[in-house]
Amino acid sequence: MEISNLPGKSCCLWLLFNLLTVITWLDSFAAAETHYHEFVIQTTPTTRVCRTVNIITVNGQLPGPTVEARNGDSLAIRVVNAAKYNVTIHWHGLRMLRNPWADGPGYVTQCPIQPGASYTYRFTIINQEGTLFWHAHVGFLRATLYGAIIIYPRLGSHYPFPMPRREFPILLAEWFDRDPVSLLRMTQFTGAPPNVSIAYTINGQPGDFYRCSSQDTVRVPVEAGETILLRIINSALEQELFFSVANHRMTVVGTDATYTKPFTTRVIMIGPGQTYDVLLTADQIPGRYYMAARAYETAQNAPFDNTTPTAILEYKSVGCGNNNGQLSRPLLAALPAFNDTSTATAFTNGIRGLSQNTVFTNVDVNLNFVVGLGLINCTNPNSPRCQGPNGTRFTASVNNVSLVLPRTSSLMQAYYQGIPGVFTTDFPPVPPLQFNYTGNVPRGLWTPSRGTKLYKLKYGSRVQIVFQDTSIVTTEDHPLHLHGYDFFVVGSGFGNFNPATDPANFNLVDPPQRNTIGNPPGGWVAIRFVADNPGIWFMHCHKDSHLFWGFAMAFLVENGVGPSQTVIPPPADLPPC
Ligand code: C2O
Repeated sequence: MEISNLPGKSCCLWLLFNLLTVITWLDSFAAAETHYHEFVIQTTPTTRVCRTVNIITVNGQLPGPTVEARNGDSLAIRVVNAAKYNVTIHWHGLRMLRNPWADGPGYVTQCPIQPGASYTYRFTIINQEGTLFWHAHVGFLRATLYGAIIIYPRLGSHYPFPMPRREFPILLAEWFDRDPVSLLRMTQFTGAPPNVSIAYTINGQPGDFYRCSSQDTVRVPVEAGETILLRIINSALEQELFFSVANHRMTVVGTDATYTKPFTTRVIMIGPGQTYDVLLTADQIPGRYYMAARAYETAQNAPFDNTTPTAILEYKSVGCGNNNGQLSRPLLAALPAFNDTSTATAFTNGIRGLSQNTVFTNVDVNLNFVVGLGLINCTNPNSPRCQGPNGTRFTASVNNVSLVLPRTSSLMQAYYQGIPGVFTTDFPPVPPLQFNYTGNVPRGLWTPSRGTKLYKLKYGSRVQIVFQDTSIVTTEDHPLHLHGYDFFVVGSGFGNFNPATDPANFNLVDPPQRNTIGNPPGGWVAIRFVADNPGIWFMHCHKDSHLFWGFAMAFLVENGVGPSQTVIPPPADLPPC
């Protein structure tokens, strides 16, 4: 894979450039580079599981191109929209310090790139290493517009674990029987959840267990005895997934581009928006072993895709003429039952931060966000537009506010340019009404109100958020994602959060730092972060249907003092609405 595309230069210049690079490299370990990419958004007929769908791709690829860089490098990625839908690209998990203009959520930090237009995302990676991913952030387009982001240590610095012999990104995703635009239109029309996927994919391929897919099953080659690094990404729209490799154990060493204490496991559970870096040692009898995933589904009575995508871990000595190397059927990985919440919870709670992070103990801003689904009653329950339970339409909210995004400006542009009437800053810090969130909730509390409310934070404030799931419609795991920040996950549990007793058990010693954490179904999760990145930052459920229904809010983090605490000016090519 190419790390960057060198811009056109004459050969001499290129040689000189290389020479200079070598000299700089020898000279200093801080050499940072700028990587240029061109992403052409286009419509590409693509066939999976015997079904051809006109999907939107970057450069015709599924998954899209991998973006590789070192910590400290800069990127300039020109996105050219040659498709017929509005698009934006989000660099999920990159902090974009003081630079919300490069973050990418549509109508939050930018207006979409319209068909025929282009926009160059320019940003620098500051103190982040590991695996992230990029994806579209408009409608359901990220179903097919996604790719890996790999951030290596700076030159001269190393992983905090033995150097693996090889590295492979493993992108998990869903394949639908239609294109994401008509999937969204249907959801919009019916008020019901979107159709579930008809397959899952690993690096774009469903694998052996699906029709018409065996030929293209992804193979991961290993030499017996060596250790490889898998960079596992859940880029699915909706589904938490279990993942395992037959007979092999995995050692988690990183998550969401932060390092973790090594944690050895047979199975991982990864929610949409999360990443795990795992080491795997090829210490089994040389052969072929399935890597496989399966749904982890927590909603009650919800349809889900219960199929199994596979890739094959293939020892190199196998199939190269040695006698034991019959290309026999690979061994299948054991996977938990789809509703195995105890396995999922034990895994997530096993992840600990690498450094003895001393998390701040004094909280300046204490927020309590009640999150989940809701239903809107229809005047005519038999209407084809009301295909939710008992003739309703689905909705979702945070503290009873179902977010409505503006259309005429992005929130960030409205804030920066002082355009009035686009949003208010009265997002409630606590639920407007307290009730038994996980009990039998009276029907009158199932319908949130709609609004475009932000929560304002002073620069540098120390923030805690306790998220609380409800049993409205169903309890469910929600992958909660915050833009612009990594946060410490200091605690979680089932049932209602108890402010009198639960904080005593918070982990302020070695909590993991992440950008996406699952709220346990019918439970709560507590996070902390310092608001040291000014701008407008989106917070939402990383299940796209929930986001579409309004399960989102945004923080407005004010500038601090001086240029190092102030949002940079917007680039000249920022798209208009
Ligand atoms: Cu990966 Cu706003 O999301």
